[in-house]
Amino acid sequence: MTFRDIRENKRLEEMMLKYEFALNILETHLNILIKEFAFSHGYNPVDHIKSRIKEEKSALKKLEKKGYELTYYNLVKHIHDMIGIRIVCSFLSDVYDIVKLIKSSPQFKLKEEKDYIKHPKKSGYISYHLLVLVPIYLNDTIEYMEAEIQIRTMAMDFWASLDHKIQYKLSKTLSKEIIDELYNCSLNIRALDSRMNRLNKVVKNYIETDV
Ligand code: GTP
Ligand code: MG
Repeated sequence: MTFRDIRENKRLEEMMLKYEFALNILETHLNILIKEFAFSHGYNPVDHIKSRIKEEKSALKKLEKKGYELTYYNLVKHIHDMIGIRIVCSFLSDVYDIVKLIKSSPQFKLKEEKDYIKHPKKSGYISYHLLVLVPIYLNDTIEYMEAEIQIRTMAMDFWASLDHKIQYKLSKTLSKEIIDELYNCSLNIRALDSRMNRLNKVVKNYIETDV
């Protein structure tokens, strides 16, 4: 699937290159921020990071699904996750530490923030989303590229991956029973995250009073 207009395809090709530059910059800055945090706190809150650039064909599919005409303009305006980074943390408090760290960094401009932990989605989805603008320095200009950063715990990641798999496998809409069951699983995940977070706090206090 491509645009009908050849010039538009050329512009998209150039845009994909810029997304690649921006992802490289974003990954480098995030790695520095996290390593510095780990060094100064003696503790790394991040379990792993995943990143991807959305393929052209899935971007166009998404545009189509959202009901927009397949144009370069619409792609840039309506697809906000061409660059996607997922930071998976151990504990709930780690998620908020990472959010704070990214928000206080002068390297990116914050465009939008969604706390789906305090306000889970109807599906049961829980995660923290930051939409940032990453500056890329080209020959004669600076351009700001959008990137979606999803920050979540391992438990939230577990739910989201399985939810995605279940929804993906079924092409028809899910029955109310399945939707409710997925939502209930998400409630379990939230409860588990809170318990593990409390446990971690207690253990941290032990260690601190031990020294
Ligand atoms: P798009 O969904 O990207 O059109 O934009 P939006 O404004 O709805 O953004 P939102 O923050 O709701 O979701 C963006 C991303 O979060 C998605 O691409 C998924 O990766 C993830 N996400 C959102 N809702 C769900 C959900 O119910 N289940 C799963 N597994 N992932 C979700
Ligand atoms: Mg959505």
